[in-house]
Amino acid sequence: MKYPDVVKEIENILWPKPLKLFTAGPVACFPEVLEVMKIQMLSHRSAEYRALHRDTTERLSKFLEAEKSTVLLIPSSGTGFMEASIRNAISPRGKVLVTIIGEFGHRYKEAVERNGRIPIVLEKPLGKPVLPEELDDALKKNPDVEAVTITYNETSTGVLNPLRELAKVAKERDKLVFVDAVSAMGAADIKVDDWKLDLVFASSQKAFGVPPGLAMAVVNDEVFERAKKIPERGLYFDLLEIKQFLLEQWSTPTTPPIPQIAGLNAALRIVEKMGGKEAWLKMYTERAEKIRRGVLELGLQLFAEPGYYSPTITVVYNPPGVKGPVIYEEMRKRGIEIARGYGKVKDVTFRIGHMGYITDEDIELLFNTLREVLVSIGYKPLK
Ligand SMILES: Cc1ncc(COP(=O)(O)O)c(C=O)c1O
Repeated sequence: MKYPDVVKEIENILWPKPLKLFTAGPVACFPEVLEVMKIQMLSHRSAEYRALHRDTTERLSKFLEAEKSTVLLIPSSGTGFMEASIRNAISPRGKVLVTIIGEFGHRYKEAVERNGRIPIVLEKPLGKPVLPEELDDALKKNPDVEAVTITYNETSTGVLNPLRELAKVAKERDKLVFVDAVSAMGAADIKVDDWKLDLVFASSQKAFGVPPGLAMAVVNDEVFERAKKIPERGLYFDLLEIKQFLLEQWSTPTTPPIPQIAGLNAALRIVEKMGGKEAWLKMYTERAEKIRRGVLELGLQLFAEPGYYSPTITVVYNPPGVKGPVIYEEMRKRGIEIARGYGKVKDVTFRIGHMGYITDEDIELLFNTLREVLVSIGYKPLK
C-alpha cells in the first residue's frame, strides 16, 4: 500500500508556497543531507549504526581540531549542552562568569541560575564584543569563579566574539572555558585543543546545514573529572554516562536522532569534497562579505561593530522611520524568508542569516527583492 497523499498533505502545511531561506536557523539544508536522511532506520545498538556514529564523531573531531577532547552527539538542541556544562562541571552554588553581548548570553545566565549556581555578569552594550582586557579585569575582580561562558557568535546582534583571545585570558587565570558555538560552529574557525577550550557546543540546524534535533559538543577531560565530583548531574544530560556509552558502544544512552547524524556525516563529507576545512570556512567568509557589501550598497547600516562581523548572520538597522518586522514581512510576501530582529533590538533591526545551503543566485535574488521592498516602502536605495 502506498499513501502519497500523506506527503502532499504535510507539504501543504509546511510549504504551502516556495520560500528562499536566509533564516537564523533552522536553515536550508544541502540536498545531499536531505537525501541521506531518507534512509530507512535501524537499531542504534546495531554495528551499522555504531559505525556511522563513530565516523561522524571522528570527522567532527578533525574539523574542530579536537583530538585531545571527546566529541559527543546527542538527541537535543544546543541548549541541552548549555545546561549540561553547568550541571556537570560547576559545583553546587559555584560561581560562573557569564559574558553577555546579547540574548544568548542572557540565556546562559539563566542556565546558571536555574541550576542553582551563581552568575557573575560581564555585559557589553549591544553590537559590541567582549574584549580580552575586559575579561581579564572581570576575572581579576572575581577570582573565585570556576568557569567563563562565551557566546562565540551572538545571533541576536551579528557579533563574533574574539574567542581565541578570550579563551587565552581565561586559561591564564585557570578557569574553565565554555563556548556557546551554536551559530558559529561550522562557519567560524574553532581549534579546540590549541585554544584550550573545555566545552564547546552547537546545534545541527545552523552552519552545517542539517535539520534540527541533534546537539554536538566537544568536551575535555577536565570537565569529565569535575563531573565525577558532582553527584547530582541529572539523568538526561549526564556527561559521564554519555561518554561511557560512546566509549563502550559508539552510541548514546538514549535513542539518537539517526537521520540528523547521517545528515551531519554528509555535511562533513561535503566539507572534504570541497577541499577541506579551510576551503569550507572560506566559502562562509566570502558569503558573509558579499552579504555585507550588498547591504551597504543599498545604503543600509550594519548593527555590529566593524571588525567583529559574524560569518553566519548579518544584523541590519531598519531604514529610518521603519519600526518592527516590516522588512521581514514584505520580503516574505515576495518569497524570501529572512529573520526578524531579535531581543531588545527587535524593533530597530532585521537579520539576514547566511548559513546552510545558499547559492550565488539566491543571494542575487535576495538583494533584488530587498531593493524592491525598500522602494515599495518609500526608501531610496543608495545604488
Ligand atoms: C548563539 C545561540 N545560542 C543558543 C541557541 C539555542 O539553540 P537551540 O535552539 O538549538 O537550543 C541559539 C539559537 O538560535 C543561538 O543562536
